[in-house]
Amino acid sequence: MSKYYLTTPIYYVNAAPHIGHTYTTLVADTIKRLKAMQGIEAYLVTGTDEHGQKIERAATKIGKSPQEYTDLISAEFENTWKQLGLAIDKSQRTTSPQHAAAVAKLFAACDAAGYIYKGSYSGYYSVTSEAFVADAKEGDVDPDSGQPLELVTEENLFFKLSAFQDKIIELHETNPQFLQPESRRNEVLAFLKNEKLQDLSISRTTVKWGIPVPEHPGHVFYVWFDALMTYWSAVEGTDLWPADLHLMSKEIVRFHAIYWPAFLMAANWPLPKRIYSHGWLLFEDNKMSKSRGNIVRATPIQQVMGFDALRYFLLREIPFGSDGSFSFDALVARYNSDLANGLGNLLSRTLSMILQYREGKVPAPVEADASAIPVALAHYENFEFHKALETIWRWIGELDKYIVENAPWKLAKDSSPEAQARLDAVLYRCFESLRLITALAAPVIPESAAKIALQLNIQGPLTWGHTPQGHPIGEISPVYPRLDAKVAIEQMKTLETEELARQNALLGKVEEAPLVNIPPIAETISIDDFVKVDLRVGQVLSAETVKGADKLLHLKIDIGEPTGPRTIVAGIAKAYSPESLINRKVVIVANLAPRKLKGIESQGMIVAASLEGGSPALAAFLEEVPVGARLK
Ligand code: MSP
Repeated sequence: MSKYYLTTPIYYVNAAPHIGHTYTTLVADTIKRLKAMQGIEAYLVTGTDEHGQKIERAATKIGKSPQEYTDLISAEFENTWKQLGLAIDKSQRTTSPQHAAAVAKLFAACDAAGYIYKGSYSGYYSVTSEAFVADAKEGDVDPDSGQPLELVTEENLFFKLSAFQDKIIELHETNPQFLQPESRRNEVLAFLKNEKLQDLSISRTTVKWGIPVPEHPGHVFYVWFDALMTYWSAVEGTDLWPADLHLMSKEIVRFHAIYWPAFLMAANWPLPKRIYSHGWLLFEDNKMSKSRGNIVRATPIQQVMGFDALRYFLLREIPFGSDGSFSFDALVARYNSDLANGLGNLLSRTLSMILQYREGKVPAPVEADASAIPVALAHYENFEFHKALETIWRWIGELDKYIVENAPWKLAKDSSPEAQARLDAVLYRCFESLRLITALAAPVIPESAAKIALQLNIQGPLTWGHTPQGHPIGEISPVYPRLDAKVAIEQMKTLETEELARQNALLGKVEEAPLVNIPPIAETISIDDFVKVDLRVGQVLSAETVKGADKLLHLKIDIGEPTGPRTIVAGIAKAYSPESLINRKVVIVANLAPRKLKGIESQGMIVAASLEGGSPALAAFLEEVPVGARLK
């Protein structure tokens, strides 16, 4: 049996798992199951990233030692994956001694090859991203998380990343499969061609919570040098390296597509074969993350609807690679339409008819169209899960139509040999199609597919005509009961609150207020001063990213002026995707002097609340408001 080694990122233990982490992990689980279908034994590694300043501080904040704290949270991750039934082969912790020894080996190999030197460094460090932010100055915030930066000056060990610029460009140019999807590859290549890679500080002397650097007392390894090595250390001593696939979402693609291959090239170790970087799961238009406080957990959903409902929803709804929104309403709607009314209904109809008309025995095989099988498999192969599921569910729709057109309940009442032969054909086609549909969907909905397979009482290959004449069906029972959306959502939200309280109690934490460091109120002004500010309701007509500025969006906003929409450049790209802003009503400072940002003249400013760390939340209205209305 051939092997396939795939990984998820190793998750930071500063927060318990939410459906953002679950998303990557369940995709990895789905890919593992797809490989098994092809006779390939896949090995799935996940884990926890437990070192670094961020974790040290999170532990101190709740009065625990870093080790106590990481033990608690890494167990939360492992238990969650177990509870969700994810087929994980190994959860690697960066605090394991075997991992520490592997990191030391990577360091020794890079050092022996001449890629390590001692130097001093001064720069602005982001604790949330655990990375120095290039060209930052005092008062700047982390462009990814919006959190404040800290000035750090240290004597450090450096990795000669600059020596790998051309080699990494060549890697991406000659091997387009190395980083996918294509859009992400283009971004990384553009970055590599426009920016000079700086050498990377790979040790810290101001942080204690890390893997000690051998022969350099006082130094611990920089977390990313430590973390990336998990992919290797998790399978050390086996024949699984190089990895076939690393999965992660887009904010950490550069660490994987630039640093990681550079470390491995320096050590002269084989590179992973493929990196796939998917999009963000958004909740109410924002990236779901702990710092935004908009987290949803998977286990409450599992308790009310079954985990397959969430797996199906995420893979059917969001093209893998793109950002996509999660909402409880959409989740329940998909479940009811596709699982309860779609697959579930076809199953119960088909089996009850076979029971009623043929004493529970499948009639003789007939030929029928099963061309959806290769189409769905090809989509799966390209990680186009939504298209694979669309293809499979189209097949279900065709069968529903076929049943209505043939009206088997009428055929059953007609004892002529022609009618009975047609009824046999209808029942066989529905049964055999269901067997194949279930097998095709099983990697996405494994638990319920297993229940369906029990009722069909047969599995078998992905080829038409495997079920023999006279095959006895199993016991019939409902697999996807229809849900009342309001009741189900209420139940999930209640369980979600309970789960949050349990996690907080576990960590001895009190509820975090969403806003910290409320700035003092500014100097008093008169009404005459205030009316000088012309605030207007605007509507976003278009939004796009600004080349070379990952914080900025270039917006066209209609504020009702006869001269047409305004061009406004706003620093909100980290909090809002361009698509999520289209048609949105916003508040504009309409009489602000124009200023140029990245060569574009911004004719006004968009109003937003500044959350913790400077992350923006756009001002909005609960009532319908006309474009151009003045705020006063
Ligand atoms: N510890 C680093 C990764 C080191 S890998 C050698 C890290 N950890 S993390 O806890 O922040 O996890 C980030 C990963 O979790 C993302 O890359 C993605 O796989 C998953 N996700 C977390 N939130 C997510 C969304 N809201 N949407 C999609 N995936 C998300 O970064």
